[in-house]
Amino acid sequence: MTDYYDVTLKEERHAMLFALSGFRAENTRLENAEEVRRLTVDFNPDVIVHLAAQAGVRYSLENPRAYLDSNITGTFNVMEAAREASVRHLLMASTSSVYGANSEMPFDECQKADTPLTFYAATKKANEAMAHSYAHLWSLPTTMFRFFTVYGPWGRPDMALFKFTKGILEGTPIDIYNHGEMFRDFTYVEDLVCGIRLLMDAVPIRPNAQSDIPEGDSLSPVAPFRIVNIGNSQKVRLLDFIEAIEDELGKKALRNYMEMQTGDVPATWANADLLHKLTGYQPRTDIRDGVKAFVDWYREYHEKRG
Ligand SMILES: NC(=O)c1ccc[n+]([C@@H]2O[C@H](COP(=O)([O-])OP(=O)(O)OC[C@H]3O[C@@H](n4cnc5c(N)ncnc54)[C@H](O)[C@@H]3O)[C@@H](O)[C@H]2O)c1
Repeated sequence: MTDYYDVTLKEERHAMLFALSGFRAENTRLENAEEVRRLTVDFNPDVIVHLAAQAGVRYSLENPRAYLDSNITGTFNVMEAAREASVRHLLMASTSSVYGANSEMPFDECQKADTPLTFYAATKKANEAMAHSYAHLWSLPTTMFRFFTVYGPWGRPDMALFKFTKGILEGTPIDIYNHGEMFRDFTYVEDLVCGIRLLMDAVPIRPNAQSDIPEGDSLSPVAPFRIVNIGNSQKVRLLDFIEAIEDELGKKALRNYMEMQTGDVPATWANADLLHKLTGYQPRTDIRDGVKAFVDWYREYHEKRG
């Protein structure tokens, strides 16, 4: 419930979850180590999926400390709590942004990723290293997800789809970076959830020898630790994405073409073979179907609010 964006949107998402059985909410900051520990011990989880973070690439240029606090200190507190609770599996969100300046595409988990271009990416890369050490030291089975541009209903207002839809409907210009020469691997939120749910049961096991690690598996040779991309495996041109939104809205965008932004990358594209090998699952929602689902939600959500 941080106020990085509209807290009402977050409360409304929670309201839907409360309507389901088995959902419980505790509102606290990740930096509050004692509270995170107490809640974890009290709940006694079998598996922890840690998604909370200070997200957003561009905001990390403005307020890097928020990333340090939430992503480094906060994630450390979750790891400590997971260790104490001896969970069967800890799963945590990293990001495709850790591929940074890598140019070999599609990005796969066995590539080096040592050139983060933003502090956001650096904190997530640090999370991966921190988690590897805990997996090694405490035999804490850990999976780090690398998500690729997630979109869909109830999504984040600071992300392109939300901003473009809003701008087009309101008739205000939308900022298009790098003159539109950008590519993203857009991943529909339901596909992401499906991938996460299936990976919960793919618990990494420390291999006995390097030779036990299958080709293309990012499993660590010295820890029950693995990194897994969750992406749609399609490289979509930003201008095609905008066209899909325009078609869905039946209205053209006022386009403000801009230079490449500092820290931004021109393209992301996932190799999601490992996810498929581990779970038999492949994200496959077509961008036009996903954009339609978002636009339908956006219209309904804003009509209700007048
Ligand atoms: N959305 C994407 O495209 C994308 C891509 C790559 C990685 N990720 C990662 O996926 C995860 C979920 O992202 P999202 O897009 O749903 O973002 P989000 O901002 O909607 O969700 C993150 C939540 O974490 C909470 N949070 C932040 N700092 C906190 C703190 N210190 N204490 C307690 N709660 C805190 C926020 O209030 C927010 O509700 C994040 O770890 C993000 O870095 C997202």
